[in-house]
This record gives sequence, C-alpha cells and structure tokens, in this order.
Amino acid sequence: MTIQSQTVLSCQGLTKKFGGLTALNQVDLDLRKGEIVGLIGPNGSGKTTFFNVVTGIYAPTAGSVTFAGADLTAKSPQQVYRSGIARTFQRSRVCLPLSIFDNIMIGNHMRLNHGLIHNLFCRGEFRREYEQGYSEARKLVETFNPDLGEHLFEAVANFPMIDRRRIEICRALISHPKVLLLDEPSAGMTHDETRQLMDDILEVGQHDPDLAIIIIEHEMNVIERITNHCVVLNFGQKICEGAYREVAADQQVQEAYLGGEGVQTCSPA
Ligand SMILES: Nc1ncnc2c1ncn2[C@@H]1O[C@H](COP(=O)(O)OP(=O)(O)O)[C@@H](O)[C@H]1O
Ligand SMILES: [Mg+2]
Repeated sequence: MTIQSQTVLSCQGLTKKFGGLTALNQVDLDLRKGEIVGLIGPNGSGKTTFFNVVTGIYAPTAGSVTFAGADLTAKSPQQVYRSGIARTFQRSRVCLPLSIFDNIMIGNHMRLNHGLIHNLFCRGEFRREYEQGYSEARKLVETFNPDLGEHLFEAVANFPMIDRRRIEICRALISHPKVLLLDEPSAGMTHDETRQLMDDILEVGQHDPDLAIIIIEHEMNVIERITNHCVVLNFGQKICEGAYREVAADQQVQEAYLGGEGVQTCSPA
C-alpha cells in the first residue's frame, strides 16, 4: 500500500477526564492518507475513549482534533461523520432483525435524508437513489464476501459473527469516509475468522488507497501483518509509537502490555 505524506487527521494533546479518572492524557496522534495505524494497549488504557473523543461522542477535556485542515474538536458525532470520519464499535451494533441492506443503508443517511414529502413527490429521484444505494451496498458487501450479495434482503440475525462484522464495516464505508476507525473488529471471532477479516480490511485499503484506518486490535500477529505504524497507550498516555517491530521491542511496552513478559505474537493462523 502506498502511504502518502499528507496528514489527514491530527490529534494534539488529546485529554479526557471522567471525574477523577484521566482516561486519555495528552495524546498526540497523526494519521496520513492511505495509512493503517494500530492503536494498542492493555484493557482500560483509553483506546475506545480516543475513538469516542475523535468522533464527538465525548468532548475532550483538553487538546484538539484537526481533520483535513479543519478543526473538529468537540464537534457533534453527526458533524464528524459528515466531514468524513466513520467508525465501528467494540460491541457489535447491527440491528439483527433488519436486512443486510437496511443495516448498511443506515450508514448512508447523509445522502438519503430527504424526508417523506420529497420521497413521495420526487419518485424518480427516490428510485434512482435507491438503485444506486442497492448497487453500492451490494458491491461493498461482495468485496468482503461474494455470497452475501445474493442475500442482501435477509435478516442479519441469520449470519455468523464474521459477516455481521463485515456488514458493520460496510455500513461505515458506504458514506465514503476518508478515515475509518475500527474498534476491535475481531472481538468474539475465531483465529481463522480474524485472519479472513483482516484480509478483507487490507483489500478495502487496496480498493481505496487514500483511505486511512486506525484499528484497535489485541491480536499482535494481526497488528504486525496489517499496520504501517503503531501507537501504544497505557493508563491513557501514549508510551510508544513506531513500526510494529520497534514497538514490540520497547521495554516500556513490554512491561505495560504483558507485565514484562514481552509482546508475544500469536501462532500464525
Ligand atoms: N463514560 C465513561 N465514564 C467513566 N469512565 C469511563 C467512561 N468511558 C471510559 N471510562 C474509563 O476510562 C478508562 C479507559 O476506558 P476505555 O477507553 O474503554 O479503554 P480501552 O478501550 O483501552 O479498553 C477506563 O478506566 C474506563 O473505565
Ligand atoms: Mg475498548
């Protein structure tokens, strides 16, 4: 993957306090076009809070978020999404009774949100938007799993966890984001499923070479395989960053991550 030098997302001194607890402490992070950054650290180290602050779920206590040159600090989640940052959540958030198509189109509301009156009176335009949405959703989902394209109108509840995760990523991608934030996309999946999903994510990156991705992931062999750069958090602070090899060899990281036993890679799947 070609990484371009242009910084798309820049976080400076990002801090978030919950009462007396500092969940994020003066974190700087730059993300460049086309880059895949691994955000790692022990449980409770502030990874999800970082995503929540960047995406406007929480306003930071201090610090700034700049996206494509514009200040996004403390903007609403809707504004963040409209400007081109999409995410998935640590806990699966698909609507199980809804179809694959409906679940994906929830992520496309920015382009479809014309309201009932418009849709009733501008039937032609509504139909064109619907057809365009259908072909985009189908193309996206087929990038991940060609079989899913045939089942676009089936309830998501009928599909295994890996496909649900894929659908969530498609829901984020349908808005054509410039930055994709993935919070533990492999949670609850087997080793083989994790490997498949990571292949899918690499493929997504190849389809859109400008797309920048931050992935929170616990499996170190995954981080090693798919990231260009890693940022390590511990107790809300950035303790190290660099290529996976440098980070894995760092003493502070080893102590934080595995109580001094070293960063271990899982056996290759
Ligand atoms: N809404 C919240 N209110 C209070 N404390 C929170 C909230 N969200 C997260 N925290 C705390 O912030 C710390 C970092 O949490 P989190 O970002 O979820 O960690 P990670 O994703 O790295 O496991 C934890 O101690 C967690 O309990
Ligand atoms: Mg988390």
